[in-house]
Amino acid sequence: MMDRSSTGVRFDIITLFPDFFTSPLQSSLIGKALAKGIAQVNLINPRDFTTDKHHRVDDEPYGGGAGMLLKPEPLFAAVESLPAIAPREIILVSPQGQPLQQSVLQELAQNYQQIVILCGHYEGVDERVRQNLVTREISLGDFVLTCGEIPALTLINGIVRLLPGTVGKVESLKAESFEAGLLDYPQYTRPATFRGWDVPEVLRSGNHGAIAQWRKSQQILRTQQRRPDLWQAWEEGFGGEGVEGKEWGEGEEGGEGGEMTNDQP
Ligand SMILES: C[S@@+](CC[C@H](N)C(=O)[O-])C[C@H]1O[C@@H](n2cnc3c(N)ncnc32)[C@H](O)[C@@H]1O
Repeated sequence: MMDRSSTGVRFDIITLFPDFFTSPLQSSLIGKALAKGIAQVNLINPRDFTTDKHHRVDDEPYGGGAGMLLKPEPLFAAVESLPAIAPREIILVSPQGQPLQQSVLQELAQNYQQIVILCGHYEGVDERVRQNLVTREISLGDFVLTCGEIPALTLINGIVRLLPGTVGKVESLKAESFEAGLLDYPQYTRPATFRGWDVPEVLRSGNHGAIAQWRKSQQILRTQQRRPDLWQAWEEGFGGEGVEGKEWGEGEEGGEGGEMTNDQP
């Protein structure tokens, strides 16, 4: 991981709608992280880099077809106006990109000092932006949104969350879904009984070993039930030996107090 003791990660967001980011970047953990200087977010409007009198940022596609495309000149000019801080990545958010996963967030959080994100709009961007300006394309998934601002916010949130100092307890990051290749275990808070539904006895036992074992078994069971693809990858990779997982995970209810009644797929 890079040494970032003195400077935070710099995000430069190329967006036609800078107002979109105001509240999400001021709220909660991300707002605090930005206030602490763990990361910095600059919003750049490509419209400010147009040279024609109408400040056009979009135009019709060559060859015809529905919708408008973002023109290349304002996007190139906006990115080229930025200082280049190595190592940097220039990301286009696009449904055609690499599907976003926790491992992608980890890689970005660990390896880059500057992350530039281009937010598409309308029918997307001129292909020359894709080919000659960006260094990576990232997709939120196999669906289409109207704009790249939501994916950009997702990236900022997911990356800043992983930077040292954003989340108080580092252990809480490690335990969460996907971090170790498994989904998170079920969690409960007070009251111990709510509408007749009890918190599993083991969690109230004070026996830390038993709690850890129960949680691991629940992670395995939950992953097997909900995400067979992740479970298979875990068995082949993270859980290579697989012995513990198999003992706990083969359809039992995950040990003492481990009922999964609300969790059937
Ligand atoms: C309506 S979409 C354009 C879709 C494009 N014509 C296509 O089919 O690939 C407008 C913009 O929203 C963003 N966007 C939409 N869905 C996305 C997704 N699943 N992941 C990342 N960005 C997305 C991209 O920036 C895209 O340029």
